[in-house]
Parts: sequence; C-alpha cells; structure tokens
Amino acid sequence: MKRLLLIIIFIIAAVAVSPPNGNAIAGRQLFKKEECILCHTINKKGGTMGPNLSTIGKIRSYSWIRKQIRNPKLDFFTPNSFVIFHGKIYKSIMPANKKISADNINKLAQYLKSLK
Ligand code: HEC
Repeated sequence: MKRLLLIIIFIIAAVAVSPPNGNAIAGRQLFKKEECILCHTINKKGGTMGPNLSTIGKIRSYSWIRKQIRNPKLDFFTPNSFVIFHGKIYKSIMPANKKISADNINKLAQYLKSLK
C-alpha cells in the first residue's frame, strides 16, 4: 500500500514538472530575438563567449535551464560556476534576463531542452 502511494506521488510529481509542449519553435525565434545567439552557438551558428548549446538538452533539465536564463548567478557549483574571461574570474558573466517574460523564458527553455 505504501509503495502504491509512493508511485502515485511520483507520477503526480513527474507530470507537474514536465514542460508544456509546443513552444520549442517560438523558443528558437526568441533565441535570436533576445540575442542569446550573440554568445551561444547552436548547430554551428552563433557566438562563442558562452558555452555551445547544441546538445544542452542532454545534460541539463528543463528547470535548470529556466533558472539559468532567469538568473545565471544562481548557477549552483556546476563546472560553469566560474568563468575566466580576459584573465579575470567571474561568478557568471551571462547577463540576467529580468526583462524577458516568464512565458518567453519557458519557451526558450523548452527549445533548449529539445536540443539533444
Ligand atoms: C553576453 C553573453 C551571453 C548572452 C547574451 C547569453 N549568454 Fe548564456 N551564457 C553565457 C556564459 C558566459 C555562460 C556560462 C555560465 C555563466 O556565465 O553564467 C552561459 C551559460 C548559459 C547556459 C548554461 C549552459 C551550460 O553549460 O549548462 C544556458 C542554458 C544559457 N547560457 C542560455 C542563454 C539564453 C537562453 C540566452 C538568451 C536569453 C543567453 N544564454 C544569453 C553568455 C551569454
């Protein structure tokens, strides 16, 4: 009985955190519009100041990506926690995107999560 309850809780949790579908295409457009592409390369197009995101969906979860876009400085002790740029060490040099709406952040995150 206890085990059944655990399984049900697990299913509810999985459904609750799974991203809504259908926005990945909008996210791809936002990636250009919000200038992410200036620093990030996807499929051989884009800048190189930030990490290549061509397969980001393989290594990061949807919620992790969302947090990173919203507030890059949260970047919890991952290998990206420190960035060395022009000889100086930064906690994070990706600009925080306070002006992007929550809805558009979700779309961007869905797009990136779909890259594998
Ligand atoms: C000024 C350059 C710059 C811009 C613009 C930029 N980023 Fe970044 N991004 C970085 C750098 C540098 C990192 C490495 C970690 C850090 O500095 O926070 C990074 C890290 C990331 C990561 C985590 C990568 C990993 O290895 O896990 C994601 C996801 C990401 N950026 C998405 C975006 C999105 C989406 C946008 C547009 C809204 C964007 N970035 C705009 C420079 C940038």
